[in-house]
Formats: sequence, structure tokens, C-alpha cells
Amino acid sequence: MLSIDALTKTFGRNTAVDKVSFTVEKPAMIGIIGRSGAGKSTLLRMINRLTDASSGQIMFEGREVTGLKAAEKRAWQSDCAMIFQQFNLVPRMDVVSNVLHGTLNRRSTLATMFNLYPDADIHRAIEILDRLGIADHAPKRAEALSGGQQQRVAIARALMQDPKIVLADEPIASLDPMNAQLVMDDLRRIHEEDGRTVIANLHTLDTARRYCNRVIGMLHGRVVFDGTPEQLTTGVARDIYGADASFSEESTSTSIETLDRGTVRALREAEAAV
Ligand SMILES: Nc1ncnc2c1ncn2[C@@H]1O[C@H](COP(=O)(O)OP(=O)(O)O)[C@@H](O)[C@H]1O
Ligand SMILES: [Mg+2]
Repeated sequence: MLSIDALTKTFGRNTAVDKVSFTVEKPAMIGIIGRSGAGKSTLLRMINRLTDASSGQIMFEGREVTGLKAAEKRAWQSDCAMIFQQFNLVPRMDVVSNVLHGTLNRRSTLATMFNLYPDADIHRAIEILDRLGIADHAPKRAEALSGGQQQRVAIARALMQDPKIVLADEPIASLDPMNAQLVMDDLRRIHEEDGRTVIANLHTLDTARRYCNRVIGMLHGRVVFDGTPEQLTTGVARDIYGADASFSEESTSTSIETLDRGTVRALREAEAAV
């Protein structure tokens, strides 16, 4: 389905991503881990075509992605929605309009200028917000929401594009442990329930182990590990993060508490009621 071949990005003399290759045969939940500067963000940005590759290839369902231009490139960008650490919402705009922004790639400039959205899109936006437990916040300004809620709005905006792939660049790095768990649960659900592929850059090992069925480790722009969470032993993790003495599992842990699904649901309901 998705095949990345020798994908490379250089910035001057610095090789940020160095001949990265991997294949995703069927929908998966993939975590990419590695130290800061390992090339994780650059890799996602190339996949989404926010950045052009220096060399290498991205194939998706038989099509070459790196060469797409104009409308075809925008269509690809809507097929692989991106979620960012800082949410990238329009803070003063209401939640539902932020979600409707997810349809921008297929709307005319005029309709966009006058904020004209088809009723069907508005209904769908509310439905998606409802699924994520934040429909009650639809009329509020995005900036009035907590970080965790804002990230779920960003997920809703991504879902509005009905993407086949969701790329998430450190989606929980700015969140407290409870919200981090809610957001990771949502990403897991859109993989499991919708059959979308999720590729998330994660700064912590425990999150990758817990939520992903495949983990890719990067070091100095290269893939140094590609396997299951079970194969990601402490020794392997030490190789990925660099063999420096200061490495410890703890320093790469978000300490997401282990809440069962019932507790998470109760938390969601309590939050929705506020
Ligand atoms: N726009 C850019 N211009 C120059 N160098 C960059 C740019 N973006 C990233 N880099 C460099 O590429 C390398 C990988 O960065 P990045 O992909 O952000 O890593 P990570 O997300 O794993 O922290 C780093 O050395 C970084 O300094
Ligand atoms: Mg990064």
C-alpha cells in the first residue's frame, strides 16, 4: 500500500534523512522513535509533501507520490492528513469551523472566502466531534479548550479529510499524561475501527510500545530498528537512543498511567459535561 524507498533529505551538508526504506502492506499503527534530530519530523514532512525529498521514492497504491504537482499533490495531502505537536488550529475560530478547514483541499477559493460550507459537511464535522467526545465544544473558540481537547479537534479536522493515512508528529509531546492517553486512544481507534494507517513520531518508548503494532527506530537519519514492540528490548532501545550512559527507560517515558477503558470513558464523559 505504502512503500518508501531510499528516501533522503539533505540540508546543505547535513543529511537529515538517509536512505530510509520501509513498506506498509496493510493498515497499521506505526510509531517512529529516536532522539531529537534523528530525522523523524523531516521523514513525515516528506511523506506528506510539506518538504520535497532530495532523492528516493514514495509509492502509494501504485502511484509515485514524490513527483505529484498542484491538484494531485493536494489530493495526496488530503489522503495523508497531518497532526502536529502544537495542534495548528486557528485559535480565535470556533471549533466546528476549525474542523471544516479539513475540507479546504476540495473547496473553491470563493466558498472558502465567504466561509460557505455545505450542510452535509457541517453535520459530518459535528458527528466526528461527537465520536471524539467533544461535540459540546463545537461553538467555542478553539483557544478556549484544553490542550488535549485542542488536539482532538485537530484529529477531527484530519478525519474530515477522510484520510487513508494519518501522520502525527509528536502528537502528545505538549500534553499531560491523562490527555496524552486520550489522544493516543483516539489515534488507536481511528486505526482499529476505520482501518486507517497511523504513523506517529513519538518521543517516548512506553507510548510506542503500548499503542503501536510496529515500531521504527531512527538514528542519524537512518532506520536502525523496524519491528514489533516485543522486539524492542531495552538493549535495542539503547542502540536507537545512542549508547550514552545517561540512557534510561525512565527518561524516555511519559508515565502514562494505566487507566482501563471504563475509566477513560468516564473521564471523557465528565469532560464533555463541563
Ligand atoms: N528546515 C531545516 N533546515 C535545515 N536543517 C534542518 C531543517 N529541518 C530539520 N533540519 C535538520 O535535520 C535534522 C533532523 O531534524 P528533524 O527531522 O527535525 O529531527 P527529529 O524530528 O527527529 O527531532 C536535524 O539535524 C535538524 O537540525
Ligand atoms: Mg521532530
